[in-house]
Amino acid sequence: MKSIELNIQDALYFAEKQYEATQGEAVEAITKLEKGTGLGSDYIGWVNLASQTPAELVEKINATAARLRANCEYVVCIGIGGSYLGAKAVNTALSDSFADYYAPKPNEPKVLYAGQNIGEEYTAELQKLLEGKKFGIIVISKSGTTTEPAIAFRILRDQLEKQAGTEVSKDLIVAITDASKGALRTMADQEGWETYVIPDNVGGRFSVLTPVGLLPIAVAGHDIAKLLQGAADMEKATEHPGPDNMAEVYARMRNALYRSGKKIELLVNYTPKLHFFSEWWKQLYGESEGKDGKGIFPASVDNTTDLHSMGQWIQEGERSIFETVISVKKPAVSVLVPENAANLDGINYLAGKHVDEVNKMAELGTKIAHVEGGVPNMRIEIDRLDEYVLGQLIYFFEKACGISGYLLDVNPFNQPGVEAYKKNMFALLEKPGYEAETAAIKTKIQG
Ligand code: PA5
Repeated sequence: MKSIELNIQDALYFAEKQYEATQGEAVEAITKLEKGTGLGSDYIGWVNLASQTPAELVEKINATAARLRANCEYVVCIGIGGSYLGAKAVNTALSDSFADYYAPKPNEPKVLYAGQNIGEEYTAELQKLLEGKKFGIIVISKSGTTTEPAIAFRILRDQLEKQAGTEVSKDLIVAITDASKGALRTMADQEGWETYVIPDNVGGRFSVLTPVGLLPIAVAGHDIAKLLQGAADMEKATEHPGPDNMAEVYARMRNALYRSGKKIELLVNYTPKLHFFSEWWKQLYGESEGKDGKGIFPASVDNTTDLHSMGQWIQEGERSIFETVISVKKPAVSVLVPENAANLDGINYLAGKHVDEVNKMAELGTKIAHVEGGVPNMRIEIDRLDEYVLGQLIYFFEKACGISGYLLDVNPFNQPGVEAYKKNMFALLEKPGYEAETAAIKTKIQG
């Protein structure tokens, strides 16, 4: 059952001709994805992943999660990019916004994140928080060699082993990595940590429905079987080309807008719970499409917060943007605006209304203003925020991303541009093996 509706009416008339022109290409794109005949097809394992995930894997992940939940006050997930954003997106969407401000309870560890930056203060403050605490580590890296998580893991593993002892630590570390390659695989095999494999044919940004996302999501107490079920149902709903295939419609509409001169897509939410979902989406589309001198720039805003910071630009700035709004039909809770006898703030006209009724009117008012201001608007309405619906939403965006990349005629599954900064950083840090690059970059910066 579909719990998501896509409406493109307020975008279509901005680029109707271009939209019609993409129909045949979209059919081809879907066929390439389903048959594995397109660019980068070594990395389309995600297309049927959710429907093919064995129940035993889900049980094993839940058992590992239960062990970590029983033995830890904090579980630190170490990873970056695709090895971090999916879990962070789902956990932020489904967990209490203030969960981290409550004291840890038995069997309900706080899930923290590390290795997604190289901030010294962040690292020191995390070390301080974990001092004397019972904690575990999930370390995630497909390549097993990424510098940011490697540094965080070395530091936190050292702390864990000092606090809990090397033997006890073995049960508190789980590694998620390649089946046979990389430094993390070598270490895990030597140390005897429990491991999970990231399938060869699934790239980082498409890996949230593998153990990469599933384990941290299960540790946070969410139902990963429902997440997979939602994704599997969307898999079925977007298998064949046609007007009912919402992934196709979204991919075609954004591509048509791009062809008509709209170069920036803003993913818009009206609940802070979706902030990191947008971060996940930005990586998915940014790394998949931004290449060969092409690609829509994926940006995001959290409304109504950002209407008070970015609203001016969106309403009246350069007309090169379009918006895709994710709107949650109904919140899971109820808060009413109370009556106030003095009414000094003048908002008694809202008394008795749900906070969400005001939010929805802000959303509608914003849409009308932005569309009139020349900003095409697509709207994705989701029934609620739960595992099943998020599973659908994740797969919907993944499938649309694959189609969209093929419509753009790029390989959506590689990321050659990410290597450039690494090469320079290694040269500057004088990493063994980079001697020639070190000499070259030193000459460059010394002029
Ligand atoms: O999508 C991708 O491939 C990247 O964002 C990677 O996920 C990210 O660079 C982390 O790589 P790894 O999992 O190899 O440490």
